[in-house]
Amino acid sequence: MTANETVATAMPPQSAGVPVGDVVYFDARYIQKSEVTVSPDDRGFLLGDGVYEVAAAYDGRFVALDRHLGRLKKSLAEARIDVSVADPLESVFQELLERNGFAERGKAMVYLQVTRGVSPRTHAFPKVPVRPTVYAFAAPFPDMGDLASGISAITRPDLRWSRCDIKVISLIANVLANQEAKENGSFEAILVRDGVALEGTHTSFFAVKDDVVMTAPLSNLILPGITREIVLELCHRTGLSVNEQAVPAHTLPQADELFITGTTIEVAPVVVLDGRPVGDGAPGPVTTRIAELYRAAIVAGRQ
Ligand code: PDD
Repeated sequence: MTANETVATAMPPQSAGVPVGDVVYFDARYIQKSEVTVSPDDRGFLLGDGVYEVAAAYDGRFVALDRHLGRLKKSLAEARIDVSVADPLESVFQELLERNGFAERGKAMVYLQVTRGVSPRTHAFPKVPVRPTVYAFAAPFPDMGDLASGISAITRPDLRWSRCDIKVISLIANVLANQEAKENGSFEAILVRDGVALEGTHTSFFAVKDDVVMTAPLSNLILPGITREIVLELCHRTGLSVNEQAVPAHTLPQADELFITGTTIEVAPVVVLDGRPVGDGAPGPVTTRIAELYRAAIVAGRQ
């Protein structure tokens, strides 16, 4: 076996990149992905100056599209990016599903990003207003293996900025922490700031102790996850106790259960944290129940 093969087998299965639907939305047009040309002066490319959103669809029906659009509008407003009326964002989501043949079958996602547009590099906004660049694609759900049987995670210091509530495309701190997780054989890194476990690099984070579901409260330090919101509503509706309070990182080894949520992850149990089993090392009853409730809500279109 070569050194490379050794490394490859030590790594968890990685999605080899998401095959993208042929038709994408760019510059107010639906075109083939191969026809897209992004200017090197695009502020997204040069400065990471933009925001994004990801929504999932099951057999052509989006999960909580209104909430995703609401968060996108909030991200745009906080970033002070005005999207042109030429970009009807809501219809872009639906249209991309249809134009790529995802409207009838299976699980698909739509990714949409808006950058501040094309302009010679300056830190301040362009002097002459420019049109934001909107790019969106549809793709089948990335194959992430069997998440339902549980994933492993590591904790890492949260090195992100202090407006994590805005869904910005500048994700280098998330990228570095997630890569550390992958190199460690784990799926996700749980980010810890000031002794508190906040969220994953691309997921919301929950702990369960004595049948109480705990997750960090909404603040500038976490993304207001749509799946998180739906899960909390489902807990309230079904009488599961919820405590939206900071989860001290030092209490995590004593948690009965841990789980993460996200648009493409849904609800995934964390069964190993920092190399140690969580609870008895198998998905716990509360997490399993919440995953079932979430699945049922999606199938019924109730979110
Ligand atoms: N990630 N926290 C962070 C930092 C995220 O990036 C995400 C989503 C979540 C979960 O949010 P939601 O339930 O709305 O998907 C929490 C997306 C999917 C991504 O970056 O691809």
